[in-house]
Order: sequence, then structure tokens, then C-alpha cells
Amino acid sequence: MATNRTFTMIKPDAVKAGHIGAILAKINEAGFTIKAMKYTKLSAEKAGEFYAVHKERPFYGELVEFMSSGPIVAAILEKENAVADFRKLIGATNPAEAAPGTIRALYAKSIGENAVHGADSDENAAIEGSFHFAGTEIF
Ligand code: CMP
Repeated sequence: MATNRTFTMIKPDAVKAGHIGAILAKINEAGFTIKAMKYTKLSAEKAGEFYAVHKERPFYGELVEFMSSGPIVAAILEKENAVADFRKLIGATNPAEAAPGTIRALYAKSIGENAVHGADSDENAAIEGSFHFAGTEIF
């Protein structure tokens, strides 16, 4: 059953390029409300833990290095059908394949440095949200 929450990160490439405001505006315009948000930086250890599901992939080392290379914005977002609608808003993982107007089409540089993360299921949205936020930080 679909829930109404998803989890996102604005990644170090988009933060460095000054796109936090533009990306948050797209998220708000698309009807998502912010339940939790923080500007933070992942250690290599925490980035490795967050992406542990990709441990065996050839790009894992690169992914961990990149995700711990600078600050990120982590957020829990709410909207009806949040996970699927957010993935539509951000576009395909590879920006070259992302639909025009999507966040990755507008702001991502490459498949590795792809501007934003979006949870891929309700279950992962809940796990990833709890990874970054205590219950007292969610409103
Ligand atoms: P994300 O949605 O955060 O989930 C896993 C991440 O791994 C993905 O976005 C990409 O940033 C990264 N990724 C996926 N495939 C590749 C790849 N072929 N090369 C480098 N990074 C990748």
C-alpha cells in the first residue's frame, strides 16, 4: 500500500552548484510538504552505511566518496503517493535519460553526480528517514 511520505537528499554536486533553493522550490511547487529537513555532511562511514545495499556494485566506492565529499540537504517529504510522484519529479537516475523539466534533467551532471536522491519504495523511505532523523525532528 502506498504511504504519503518519501525521503530525499540534495546531493553534494547540487549543493556546491548553488541549486538548493531552486530544487526546494520545485519540490514545493509539486505539492510536497516538508516534514523534516537538515543541512548536514555525511562521513564516509555513514555514506557507506546509507548505501550499503549497493556494496557489491562497481560504483560503490565512488558513490561513498562523492556522497561524503560535501554538505547535503536531507528531508522527509509528504504528499499523497509520495514515493512514486517524487521519482517522477526527479527523473531517471541517469540525467541523460531524465525527462525534460525534471530535477535531474535540469540540475544533474552525470549518473554518479545526479543532484538528488529519492527513496525507491515506501519501506526504504521509512528506513532512510529514520537513518537521518530522530522522531523529535519530524513535524
Ligand atoms: P541514488 O538514487 O541516490 O541511488 C543510488 C545511487 O548510485 C544513484 O542515485 C547514483 O547516484 C549512483 N549510481 C547508480 N548507478 C551508477 C553508475 N553506473 N555509476 C556511478 N554511480 C551510479
